[in-house]
Amino acid sequence: MSTLTAQLAISGGTPVTTAKVPFMLPALAEADINSAILVLKSGILRAAKKCEELETRLGAMSNAKHAMTCANGTCALQLAYEPLLQPGDDVLVPAWSYIATASMLVARGCNPIFVDANPETGQIDVADAAKRITPKTRGIAATHMYGCPVDIDGVQALAKAHNLKVIYDAAQAHLATYKGTGIGAFGDAVTYSFYATKNLGTGEGGMITCNDDGLARQIKLLRSHGETDKYLHEQVGYNYRMNDVTGAIGCSRLDRLPAETDARRAAAARYGKVLAGIPGIRPLGITPGAVSAYHLYTVELDVSQFKCTRDEFAAALNAEGVPNAVHYPRALPDQPAFAKFLKGQAAWPVAVRLAKGVMSLPMHHGLSDAHFAVIEESMNKVAAAMRR
Ligand SMILES: Cc1ncc(COP(=O)(O)O)c(C=O)c1O
Repeated sequence: MSTLTAQLAISGGTPVTTAKVPFMLPALAEADINSAILVLKSGILRAAKKCEELETRLGAMSNAKHAMTCANGTCALQLAYEPLLQPGDDVLVPAWSYIATASMLVARGCNPIFVDANPETGQIDVADAAKRITPKTRGIAATHMYGCPVDIDGVQALAKAHNLKVIYDAAQAHLATYKGTGIGAFGDAVTYSFYATKNLGTGEGGMITCNDDGLARQIKLLRSHGETDKYLHEQVGYNYRMNDVTGAIGCSRLDRLPAETDARRAAAARYGKVLAGIPGIRPLGITPGAVSAYHLYTVELDVSQFKCTRDEFAAALNAEGVPNAVHYPRALPDQPAFAKFLKGQAAWPVAVRLAKGVMSLPMHHGLSDAHFAVIEESMNKVAAAMRR
């Protein structure tokens, strides 16, 4: 064992700090709790004024005409997919995303056609998507991964050329922008998640935005058993409604979200400076024209430059005081759940590479100078000890 390796906390050396840098800050503020209490005291727990307020405000902040809250981000995808796609359709979907983007296509009876990731950004590679179009391709679902918008112009041009429906999964991307515009304005529908750890976390929760009046009506019907009047059901639907306690927490957190998002962006800029001095670790690139919401700050390790795996590097960094996580350890086509859809589909080398090399570092609005001092020292210490 080299001296540098022996000094690592994971080998029994002294850690950079014993007070770990928080990975995220999911805690509610007093104001959020008080807003929830007001709803609880009102006795009106169903979707009501607070859900409507969240729809109006977050919809406007995302530049969308219509916004519909729902139970969670997975339901949001289902509510968007059902009116836009038919069973049997082939639908392009990123090989590099969270499972729900693709699994809800399967729930709709569609065939996921997995598209490789752009090697620079990790976002859906539009050029690769174009190569995978089949005579049955009717849609494209694209995830704004880690909070960074995809190449929306590229996706829209591809969709126009092939008459595809476009659904953007913005579960991680509240308040991100593309060419100066909120991301709720693009494509046919955009979906969001308010899961506890998301930038706007309410526990569970979700939303869909769209600009089409007819589609908004269909989504609202599907969300609530197709009900058009009391116990009159125009069509079959679900109960995918949000509740007003969740809506109140969402509205209260939304008051702080612009400032918190700016703080995330400032933290990302600081990471950029730290990482510029550490060869072999690169932040994932940002799509030209996009401003990320930095739900996660994800870097890629060039494993050929280190004598350890990503997981070993991540464990060593954690031991120094910098917790981290892997988003995600597998490309979607490598999930057993999708095995039966892969026949005839070409490989996804970039997504597979990302699964071996990515690591998310602490990212939230509360990262201080002291946190960055620990992060910088720990990253340098581990990289120097592990360097080939
Ligand atoms: C990209 C993406 N899509 C969809 C979802 C699903 O959202 P939810 O957990 O609210 O159902 C998530 C949440 O983790 C996500 O990150």
